[in-house]
Amino acid sequence: MKVLLLGSGGREHAIAWKIAQSSQLDKLFIAPGNAGTRNHGTNVAIQPTDFEAIKTFVLENEILTVVVGPEDPLVKGIYDFFQADESIKHVNVIGPSKEAAKLEGSKDFAKKFMQRHNIPTAKYATFTKDTLEEGYAFLTSMKPPYVLKADGLAAGKGVVIPDTLEEAKAELKSMLADAKFGDASSRVVIEQFLKGIELSVFVITDGESYKILPEAKDYKRIGEGDTGLNTGGMGAVSPVVFADKTFMDKIENQIIIPTIKGLKAENLVYKGFVFFGLISVKGEPYVIEYNCRMGDPETEVVMPRIKSDILDLFEGIATGTLSERDVQFDERAATTVMMVAGGYPEEYQKGKTIHGLNAVKDSIVFHAGTSSDGPVVLSSGGRVLAVTSYGKTIEGALNRSYTSIEGIEFEGANFRKDIGKDLINYTK
Ligand code: AMP
Ligand code: GLY
Repeated sequence: MKVLLLGSGGREHAIAWKIAQSSQLDKLFIAPGNAGTRNHGTNVAIQPTDFEAIKTFVLENEILTVVVGPEDPLVKGIYDFFQADESIKHVNVIGPSKEAAKLEGSKDFAKKFMQRHNIPTAKYATFTKDTLEEGYAFLTSMKPPYVLKADGLAAGKGVVIPDTLEEAKAELKSMLADAKFGDASSRVVIEQFLKGIELSVFVITDGESYKILPEAKDYKRIGEGDTGLNTGGMGAVSPVVFADKTFMDKIENQIIIPTIKGLKAENLVYKGFVFFGLISVKGEPYVIEYNCRMGDPETEVVMPRIKSDILDLFEGIATGTLSERDVQFDERAATTVMMVAGGYPEEYQKGKTIHGLNAVKDSIVFHAGTSSDGPVVLSSGGRVLAVTSYGKTIEGALNRSYTSIEGIEFEGANFRKDIGKDLINYTK
């Protein structure tokens, strides 16, 4: 199989690493990739949303499988772009159709979908510029804190949770009337605040059946103890201790099955990964959000915990025979700790030389934001490296990740020292 993988982050490096282990692989290309993905295939300088350039490349290189890492190309309709063109219609795009990708691309669409299919989620209402006053009244009727979500994609920044009614009203106005997130906040979902502990659950589906992948927990805030600004993710662990059989059964029966059935019933074509952002409220699962792709940095622990051949699973998706395939988990725990640029998620510097990568023995270093200058690896993003390790336990894996980090250097490097700590000490 010749495969083209789209994206350039830690998620894509982890997927490339996994694809490269497949016995079915003939050649892997990554567009655009990073300094880490080049160890598993050939990087090509094409952006994931440049559909015409992707088409040309796919035809010239006889690619049969396109794996889409990030949400942008999916929400922009890459699946439909391939379907609509006779010359590339035969190519298997791993990802949902444009309409189904609205589960991530529009919070209002996702909420309505969940309502139609009785999927547990926070109560909500949606407002526009024309219903701002109703929005204020709705906020007044709710208890703090207030959850406001820009309807569209806002690069992970579209959710705001103010503590006071005054702040919430001001925020609503700035999103709707002042277009704080541009078009993405022309509609705003206001929802009930749910208190609990979050986790990420992933499935792959061919639209008929599904397979559950290892679950994970990510750590979004920059500061230890989950404080400070939101980031793209500072680390992740898998498995998640509180996701026991009883809880996972609830997730499967109340959330996964109704979602897959709902997609099918509504003719929403979906052949790819579904990411359920969930929260456990006293042991009951609720959907916080859907994403139409894998999570980052969750993928950096999920891929290492899948024992099965990923291309075999992709073939199952493409041929509608996923139910006949087997997903085996690695019983070991996996953890990843993100090394980020100093200053991130605010202003930070790029282009710092990274030292010590070749000396890492006990971890897999997935590159998140790197570029190369010959053999030299340079930082090129806020999140730079995801240092992943296995262990018998989460604690053991984390010790390895932290030991490996000691040997890796770049100017200004920062990382959280408490990834997974809440789970090591977890009591129900
Ligand atoms: P989202 O982009 O929808 O994942 O939201 C970002 C973060 O905001 C989530 O990971 C949660 O930590 C928080 N959040 C979103 N919705 C809610 C809610 N209804 N109740 C409590 N926290 C929420
Ligand atoms: N780790 C959360 C996300 O990928 O959206």
